[in-house]
Amino acid sequence: MLKFNFQNPTKILFGEGRIADIAAEIDKDQRVLMTYGGGSIEKNGVMGQVKAALSGYRLFEFAGIEPNPSYETLMAAVQLVKEEKIDYILAVGGGSVVDGTKFIAAAVNFQGEPWDILAKQAKIKTALPFGCVLTLPATGSEMNSGSVITRRSLQTKLPFSSPLLYPQFAVLDPTTTYSLPPSQISNGVVDAFIHVIEQYLTYPVNARVQDRFAEGLLLSLIEDGPIALEDPQNYDVRANIMWCATLALNGLIGAGVPQDWATHMIGHEITAMHGLDHAQTLAIILPSVLSVKKEQKREKLLQYAERVWGITKGDDAERIDAAIEKTRAFFERMQVKTRLSDYGIEKASITKLVAQLEQHGMVKLGEKRDITPEISRQILELSL
Ligand code: NZQ
Ligand code: ZN
Repeated sequence: MLKFNFQNPTKILFGEGRIADIAAEIDKDQRVLMTYGGGSIEKNGVMGQVKAALSGYRLFEFAGIEPNPSYETLMAAVQLVKEEKIDYILAVGGGSVVDGTKFIAAAVNFQGEPWDILAKQAKIKTALPFGCVLTLPATGSEMNSGSVITRRSLQTKLPFSSPLLYPQFAVLDPTTTYSLPPSQISNGVVDAFIHVIEQYLTYPVNARVQDRFAEGLLLSLIEDGPIALEDPQNYDVRANIMWCATLALNGLIGAGVPQDWATHMIGHEITAMHGLDHAQTLAIILPSVLSVKKEQKREKLLQYAERVWGITKGDDAERIDAAIEKTRAFFERMQVKTRLSDYGIEKASITKLVAQLEQHGMVKLGEKRDITPEISRQILELSL
């Protein structure tokens, strides 16, 4: 096991009806800004529950944080926070609203050009406190300190993080996810699955407990993902998926192990250029990363094949190929297509995608930092 620090300060309020408990987490004298997306929280009653819980508070609203939240929109929220002297932000929605809120919290008191937080990875010294009510299990943003922001005008999607950006609390009420359209149920399961893979399918460091946690999360997602599509109001299934997605990226399984993240970094470029959903890009790229890197990932791929997919027959190469095919088939079973061509993206785009990776400094990806732009090109070509 590698050396690590682990500290996660986010308080989880889990279960049906827990939105009612948020007043205990936010001081009554705070001026609170509720941030949200395109209106799903109005339709499914979550906004009503938040307003009821915070009746008597000075509550302001900022709507319109898009999927793949944009710098342009978030800077308008920063302006509102300054004008209204907001003390506390409450993000209500999916990963995009939580990520966007992290950027707002970071940018409000940033000295200098806020885009540098992303483009130059400039360190922030303070952040406004914030909490969240999560309505889409997928990203883990509700219990981590990372965020991914898109600047539409530059077709650039970049991650940043700071220890100051853990939500103070996160409400995880599985019933808020009943209103998700099937495509977002699928996206969430695939994103969480691939978060686990990015931290698990590298090379062995004898981190046996992290491996077993990771395999448990993968097996739960494989079991519950398809049921969530067939039986959307199944509370236990929604609860398991929600907690899986949080545990997949809250630092626990990633502590003390090598991490990959090449699939994510290549995927971000596809979203920035072609507008695909985050999880769609991952479902396209991951099988190719595993194929291109199968020698380097050999031992963990064999472990994954046996423990997650029960593959024990055949020689090493056959078992590895079978595990990669099972992975692809799982995404397809979750109704997420796994080829660039399924989304109308052609070979001609690949040169531009590779150029964007280079422009964003994504030139040494993977757990061994050996995925150069040329190897990213191979991965993209294999994904056609
Ligand atoms: O905007 P509204 O109207 O709320 O609708 C949203 C949105 O259209 C809808 N939705 C959310 N909850 C719903 C619902 N519809 C009905 N019922 C509900 N309960 O779903 C749509 C997608 O929402 P979004 O927040 O964009 O999805 P997700 O949670 O998948 O977040 C994706 C973003 O997170 C980033 C991605 O890159 C992407 O920008 N990521 C953040 C990470 C992190 N902070 O650690 C890690 C991830 O790898 C990922 O990169
Ligand atoms: Zn992701």
